[in-house]
This record gives sequence, structure tokens and C-alpha cells, in this order.
Amino acid sequence: MNRIRLGVNIDHVATLREARKTTEPDPVTAAMLSEMGGADQITFHLREDRRHIQNRDARLISEMAQTLVNLEMAATAEMQEIALALHPDAVTLVPERREEVTTEGGLDLLRGGEQYASVTKALKDGGIRVAAFIGPDKAQIKESAKLGFDAIEIHTGEYANASGAQVDKAVASVRDAVRVGKKYGLHVHAGHGLTYHNVQRIVDIEDIEELNIGHSIISRAVFVGVEQAVREMVELLLR
Ligand code: PXP
Repeated sequence: MNRIRLGVNIDHVATLREARKTTEPDPVTAAMLSEMGGADQITFHLREDRRHIQNRDARLISEMAQTLVNLEMAATAEMQEIALALHPDAVTLVPERREEVTTEGGLDLLRGGEQYASVTKALKDGGIRVAAFIGPDKAQIKESAKLGFDAIEIHTGEYANASGAQVDKAVASVRDAVRVGKKYGLHVHAGHGLTYHNVQRIVDIEDIEELNIGHSIISRAVFVGVEQAVREMVELLLR
């Protein structure tokens, strides 16, 4: 029996704190409790507008985490500098639009490829693994390999939003993307919109090594606590 690596995205705890611009709930505590519940990785997105995670959170979590740390960020000079200073185990490059509620789509690597290649190289030279957050799109996967990424994280939003006959189609599209990613020698992760109810079809896809899940785990944690919510998700990731 094996298990997909679980990255728990703790941004949503910081969102609640920032709603009042106060000190609670603390995403650093959520990170520690996630580890106690069996998380393999703590994932957070340091956004350019600092709408949820703050530099202080990023610094403390990077220092305190006993498991892996995955920093999601835009491919900018400012973020590159921060990442090299924090030295997380992994960086996932994500698109960022200020008006979006969450990361709504994947990167378009066919535009601005030079910037992605340059940030990826700088981070890899600093000993950090780098992933591209992209849709299940062949051209984007091929480009990820060309630009030097170690891994891709497949955006599962389309699958999460699908209903009826669309579900099988969306699963097939993620499965094809995984196959193409492996063909290009990339590690394959997935995430976005995954819940206790829909994660199974994604777990069933062999070769996905890591899932990053936030909203559903933190939502459940409101009622059962972070540790238990994470533990329940960890159980679903057994193969
Ligand atoms: N992976 C990436 C790259 C993301 O940007 C997000 C959203 O913050 C997630 C995973 C987690 O998505 P969700 O909160 O819907 O589980």
C-alpha cells in the first residue's frame, strides 16, 4: 500500500485572520497541527498583494515545519528573492490576478516563457524543486519540460466543477495529462477544488505523486479541528 503525498494549503486560515486584520486564527498553528494530523507538506501562497499569507507566516512556517514546505508564488523578481531567502523544499509557480477569488486557471507558459525559465533556473540553482501549475493541456506540459521545470501541478478545477457525463471526461483529461507529463520526465502533482467527496477519482490515477488541498480541509477543520480533518484526508489518499 502506498499513499499520495498530501500538501495541506493553509492560506484559508490566514484569509479568516485578515478578515479582521488581527492575530487569529494563526496559519502557523494550522501548519503545525496539519503535520500532527499526518500532512506530508505545508503549502501556502504568498500573494503579491499579501491578502492572506504574510511574510511573517512564510518565514515562521519555513523555519518551523518538520515536513516539506511548498511555496506557491508568481514568477516575479520580488518573489524569487523571497523564495531564495526562505529556501522552501519546493516552489510552485502560479498565475496571479488581483481580482480573482482564488487561482482560477493555470499558467500560460506559451507566453512569457523566458521569465518562467529564468525564475525556474534561479530557484533550481538554489536547490529548490520547481513546479508549474497548469491546466491538463498537452502544449503547456510540453512547454513545462522545455522551460526546465521539475514537476507540473495539474489544475483540477475543471474536474471539481464537472457534473454528470462531464466528470468522466474531466478525469480522462487529467489522466492523459499525467501520462504526457511522465513521458516528458516530469513529476506530476494535482490540486484545486479537491474535496473529501471528489478526491477518489484523482487518487485512482497512478503516477500522481502529490495533491495540494486547502479549502475543503480547512472547512472541515472548522468543525472537527485541523488535526482530525487532515487525518481523514490522509486516509483517503491511501492506494
Ligand atoms: N494548488 C494550487 C497551485 C493552488 O493555487 C491552490 C489554491 O490555493 C490549491 C492547490 C488548493 O486549492 P483548494 O483550496 O481549492 O483545495
